[in-house]
Amino acid sequence: MLKLRSIRIVLVSLFGLALLMVMPPTFGSVKAEDNRTQAENVVNSSSDSVGQAMTSKRTANATMGCSYRTHVQNVGWQSFVSDGIISGTEGQGLRLEGIEVKLENVSGDVGIEYATHVQNVGWQNYVNNGAMSGTYGQSLRLEAIKIRLTGADAENYDVYYQVHAENFGWLDWAKNDASAGTEGFGLRLEAIKIMVVSKGDPAPGATVRPFVTTNIQMTYQTHVQNIGWEGWKQNGELSGTTGQNLRLEAIEIKNDNSESNVGLKYQTHVQNYGWQGWKEDGEMSGTSNQSLRLEGIQIQLTGANAELFDVYYEAYVEGFGWMPWVMNGESAGTEGLALRLEGIRILVQLKGSTAPKNSENTLGFMAQLVNKNHSVPADYVPGDLVWVNLPSTRDTQLRADATQHLIQLFNGASAQGLTLYCCSGYRSYATQTTLYQSNVEMYGVAGAELVSARPGMSEHQLGLAMDVTSATVDFDLVENFGATAEGQFIRDHAHEYGFIVRYPQGKTNITGYAYEPWHLRYLGVPVATTIHNSGKTMEEFYGIY
Ligand code: DAL
Ligand code: ZN
Repeated sequence: MLKLRSIRIVLVSLFGLALLMVMPPTFGSVKAEDNRTQAENVVNSSSDSVGQAMTSKRTANATMGCSYRTHVQNVGWQSFVSDGIISGTEGQGLRLEGIEVKLENVSGDVGIEYATHVQNVGWQNYVNNGAMSGTYGQSLRLEAIKIRLTGADAENYDVYYQVHAENFGWLDWAKNDASAGTEGFGLRLEAIKIMVVSKGDPAPGATVRPFVTTNIQMTYQTHVQNIGWEGWKQNGELSGTTGQNLRLEAIEIKNDNSESNVGLKYQTHVQNYGWQGWKEDGEMSGTSNQSLRLEGIQIQLTGANAELFDVYYEAYVEGFGWMPWVMNGESAGTEGLALRLEGIRILVQLKGSTAPKNSENTLGFMAQLVNKNHSVPADYVPGDLVWVNLPSTRDTQLRADATQHLIQLFNGASAQGLTLYCCSGYRSYATQTTLYQSNVEMYGVAGAELVSARPGMSEHQLGLAMDVTSATVDFDLVENFGATAEGQFIRDHAHEYGFIVRYPQGKTNITGYAYEPWHLRYLGVPVATTIHNSGKTMEEFYGIY
């Protein structure tokens, strides 16, 4: 008997100790209530004089409080806590499923209401003054919360709240109905703190990033020659025009979801002026009423959540058509070529999403990509082939525009005392078939693949490629041509006339062909110059392989 009783006493005191260990939140809330009782007396005895009004304001902070409890996965309802004490758990991976919030020691006309963002449901309607928000017994996580004060005297207070979100940890404090938590990521809230303070009192902590959302509502509009402001576009829609030869003159870009903590800054390269300096969040970049073209643009994300996203943009440029997508501050368009931007598409995506695809159909005809993965139909014959009247090892044809530029290129070489010779321009599908087969006979398939395109896969069938040579290599097509004065002139100056060396040294892994210092591809001066200056192959430049 005696022995049993003593055991019971030990058990009771152990239980008491255990209670004390889990009590701190409750203990804290009791203490807060004590403060409120004292403070209330001060408020009640205050008068209208300025000094006392300030005292009253300060103490009102301690007077009116809020208490709250959360329904935690596997745990159920926790005890009520108050005034900035944590409710929920940290580091245990347990979701909040519901919440109740109420004001304590209310004087005057103030209430509190709140809405939660629930898994699979989204934002629920507001409930108030201690009612449950969230779900019960459905195993659905809370993802975000908004809390606001109501009533005529609400303007005397600010309600602050801060949540602990899965993966992010404690986000910063939100106040007065701003969203706290995450949206679109499928992440649970694990804990929350709430405080009511007198209007204008300092925030309990940092307030930079209370909320993270995937919902970026980025919009943009351009000012187009002869048309004016075009209206807002979004999500990669075309702003401006294509194929109408109209210049962009100005642009505005903004994110309409101010809660996302993502902003935009951008600068444009303007005719006669150059880069204009950064503008942000809807400001105009460019000029109005000056008839000046935009030539280039750079766009960057700003704000506390910028690092979670990428901004992509592609420009439609005079002489190019669509240029490849660029991102996060890179330059789109051209510099130093006096070419207008005509259209633009802008897209913000979560980091790690697939980059937008460049479309080969939009490269423009001159820039049509032909390689081992991109062929031309067997019956394709360019409509404007002309016989090339230049020094040649045989008679050969090329498209008209390319021919004109090739003449200028040969003249440029002559001015340096160099004589170039045409070797092979346009080749029909049939000619390419014969050529490829004879290469297979000589070198085997693997060897032929390095030096000769299969029929349908040769730029020569486009009428936009010319092989050139010189007497210094016996009018042959050999690698050594690259080391001759003629070959070096080609390497350094062909782009000025609209041609690129299509299969450069060291790029076989990309082009699939051995170095061909003699094979020129016509692209027009702007495109050829830009690709030459980029140091990239056509595949790398357009991002199409
Ligand atoms: N020699 C190039 C690759 C062609 O055959 O088109
Ligand atoms: Zn060739």
